[in-house]
Amino acid sequence: MKSSVLLAAGLAFAAVAVAGQPAATAPRKKGSKAVKASVQKQAFGETSDGTPVDLYVLTNVHGMVAKIMTFGGIVTELHVPDRAGKMDDVVLGFKDIKTYEAGHPYFGAATGRVANRIAKGKFTLGGQDYTLAVNNGPNHLHGGLKGFDKVHWKGAIASAAEGPSVKFTYLSPDGEEGYPGNLNSTVTYTLTNKNELKIDYKATTDKPTPVNLTNHSYFNLAGEGTGDILGHELMLEADRYTPTDDTFIPTGQISPVKGTPLDFTKPTKIGARIGQISGDPGGYDHNFVLNHGGKSLGLGARVYEPKTGRVMEMWTTEPGVQFYTGNFLDGTLKGKRGGIYKKNNAFCLEAQHYPDSVNQPNFPSTILTPGKTYTQTTIYRFLTRQ
Ligand code: BGC
Repeated sequence: MKSSVLLAAGLAFAAVAVAGQPAATAPRKKGSKAVKASVQKQAFGETSDGTPVDLYVLTNVHGMVAKIMTFGGIVTELHVPDRAGKMDDVVLGFKDIKTYEAGHPYFGAATGRVANRIAKGKFTLGGQDYTLAVNNGPNHLHGGLKGFDKVHWKGAIASAAEGPSVKFTYLSPDGEEGYPGNLNSTVTYTLTNKNELKIDYKATTDKPTPVNLTNHSYFNLAGEGTGDILGHELMLEADRYTPTDDTFIPTGQISPVKGTPLDFTKPTKIGARIGQISGDPGGYDHNFVLNHGGKSLGLGARVYEPKTGRVMEMWTTEPGVQFYTGNFLDGTLKGKRGGIYKKNNAFCLEAQHYPDSVNQPNFPSTILTPGKTYTQTTIYRFLTRQ
């Protein structure tokens, strides 16, 4: 595989690896091995239309590694230490571009232009009716038939003081998937030297349009492909959620989680009450209203995996999070290390605005207008505990 080692810049960076040259020694934690902090750009094959795909490999000073590809802005691998310092890949994915292109439920993807659902694929904006693809039962889901998860993003090494970083850009043309306005989006992934995968989003438009971007990583903190996540303990900083109809469209109400199986205000095993969620296929697939309201960066969730001691926190500037337990994984997809992905083998914490916001006047607005900039920061922070 063609590989070129590129820039790793910034104050917190002590290690800069340049193609063909040894890297400088990195600062390190007491007792840990020195690691080169770097960004590498590698070829990751090409899509069936012949477009090359690049994979950016981000390594921080603690040896944590994130791999993100230009197709779909997909996080393909994320290697995180357990309580003994042993690294493992904690996100579902595939080993080659062909398998990604063959279809999958948004593994690791930059999801948009509007993540989550829009009822019947219809909305009205500025007196005009818009019709989008209906690709999920009667509704529109995750940007349509060819959403941001299936487009080629342009990657470039970014300079961040916090750690290795790559910036992806994509210009979604006016009318793409039925949405109005040329939307210029950037998604910057930084693997900070504090063991965080930090995702910064920005978007501008030349016509009013709904925008709701998210990352759709499927996590299993015991290691991808190792089984179910029902023993993971979850805490959600959410006293309320948005109830839906049976096609997952919010009714417009905002209801308390208290007294329901959605109450994760205290750490609780994901599997403890999952059987109480009725419907087909059952399991968690709900938008939670974050207590911090999305006004500034705040803690949204904390997940602990008892066997490995891995802890993941999700911090976000968004007002909501879709907590999804991989209910539709049905054993037909085989992962990058040969594991078969079955129901509840992963969970997603998709930071975002509430579903169908464009049709729900009492939800925080998702409309971006010309001259304004959409911004979002979401951080997946990794720690360990006993
Ligand atoms: C949705 C699920 C859907 C999954 C994969 C989640 O964001 O809420 O209903 O199955 O994405 O498409």
